[in-house]
Amino acid sequence: MRFLALLGLAVTATAAPCGNSTSGPQRYVLYYDQWRPITAADNAPTAGITHVIMSFASSSLFASQPAGEYEPFQPLDEVRALFDNGTKICLALGGWADTAGFSEGAQTAESRVRFAENIATTLDQLGYDCIDIDWEYPGGNGEDYKRIPNSDKVSEIETYPLLLAEIKKAVGTKELSIAVPALERDMIAYTATQVPSIAKAVDFVNIMTYDLMTRRDNYTTHHTSVAGTLRAVDKYMELGVPADKIVFGIPFYAKWYTTQEGYTCEHPVGCPVELLENPVDGTDTGKSGSMTFEKANFEAPPANLTISPDAACGAGTLFKCGNGNCCSTSGFCGDTEAHCGTGCQSAYGRCEGTDISGSFLTAIAQGRTDEVLGAQWYWDAATRLFWSWDTPELITKKIDILAARGVRSLMAWSIGADSNDWSHLRAMQAGFQNARHH
Ligand SMILES: *[C@@H]1O[C@H](CO)[C@@H](O)[C@H](O)[C@H]1NC(C)=O
Ligand SMILES: *[C@@H]1O[C@H](CO)[C@@H](O)[C@H](O)[C@H]1NC(C)=O
Ligand SMILES: *[C@@H]1O[C@H](CO)[C@@H](O)[C@H](O)[C@H]1NC(C)=O
Ligand SMILES: *[C@@H]1O[C@H](CO)[C@@H](O)[C@H](O)[C@H]1NC(C)=O
Repeated sequence: MRFLALLGLAVTATAAPCGNSTSGPQRYVLYYDQWRPITAADNAPTAGITHVIMSFASSSLFASQPAGEYEPFQPLDEVRALFDNGTKICLALGGWADTAGFSEGAQTAESRVRFAENIATTLDQLGYDCIDIDWEYPGGNGEDYKRIPNSDKVSEIETYPLLLAEIKKAVGTKELSIAVPALERDMIAYTATQVPSIAKAVDFVNIMTYDLMTRRDNYTTHHTSVAGTLRAVDKYMELGVPADKIVFGIPFYAKWYTTQEGYTCEHPVGCPVELLENPVDGTDTGKSGSMTFEKANFEAPPANLTISPDAACGAGTLFKCGNGNCCSTSGFCGDTEAHCGTGCQSAYGRCEGTDISGSFLTAIAQGRTDEVLGAQWYWDAATRLFWSWDTPELITKKIDILAARGVRSLMAWSIGADSNDWSHLRAMQAGFQNARHH
């Protein structure tokens, strides 16, 4: 019934008066992920960005005594040089599927102090300005929820705010932020009782207002939308996060989901999808995924491909696979189902599954706008793939509507993922400027 509730949310806030209840800092935050480093030659429009969050250090490094050593994936001086003078460079801990160190660190008063002090020491030693805690998620529903049931994590609902308070105490004037889920079903530790303490401990809250359809869903809905973003932001405000601590998220990637055979998906919401997650062990069935707005994903393959000398192949390389091998979605030659099935890159090798790259370009070219929920989508009848993503226009709309509610800070995952034409980043840059003057 999720989507029915969504439909009930009218998107009419554009006419709302400009709220001026916030006087706190406005933040324009970009995650900077280790898989997509950028250089000055990329000419990314980075002006105005206030925070860059380098992702990720493993949470387990900080639970041990002494702390494990973290090596930044790019020297901090080099990263600083890509942004305005004064842009804060933060370190993110965790990310999807990394919960072990957090669970261990949160457990006792002693482990919390150790975890917090290890963070503070690491920030000082490496020269980071701030810390982002990306625990997905305290209380459960993470990647490991079938192996470690939520019932084993109940204590985290109590200990999570205590851990955050301890971290804030240890890092002092350096900012502490958290990345939090946007779907209510995953907000296990974000209860009305706990959120006020959480909000008090942190400087800002990055709401991951994307992946609003996950592999645990049975019907299509937008992975990102104006309505879905408002819903999540409103929920956190209702629970007690002040507007000036809220930072809402924009994804620099489209998501795709395989719909069931025998259906024509004329509407973006409510079309049945194939089983996207294995119900026994919680693993991915390979029937859904994402596609970033990186340059390589928009380019026709070069004409002069040669056979890969190692196993590297695919978009962004000059190599195809020999010996009838397939080039997997992550760019490796091989002949297993994982290489040859869904996501295989047909221009770079044999392909038995769905050609995601081709369908992506069709979707981008023929995408439709859901004016009611504020989202971009496409259903590709040939591959039965449902696509969902954000356009620069929709990003502008989100920023305007939220600014009118006093939420004038935003973030994106992740900067390198927009390298095709930087159009999403530019929309954020312009929108942030406007929101400041709201
Ligand atoms: C909003 O702005 C008006 C005029 O500048 C000011 O008088 C009022 O105190 C402000 N309200 C808040 C809640 O900041
Ligand atoms: C950046 O700030 C430093 C001092 O904090 C200053 O020396 C330098 O000239 C500034 N660079 C630019 C490009 O503004
Ligand atoms: C999807 O269907 C399964 C099996 O009927 C059910 O257990 C699960 O809760 C459904 N997922 C959602 C998000 O409704
Ligand atoms: C292959 O073509 C690309 C341009 O598409 C060019 O940059 C590269 O140098 C060429 N490589 C060879 C080995 O010819």
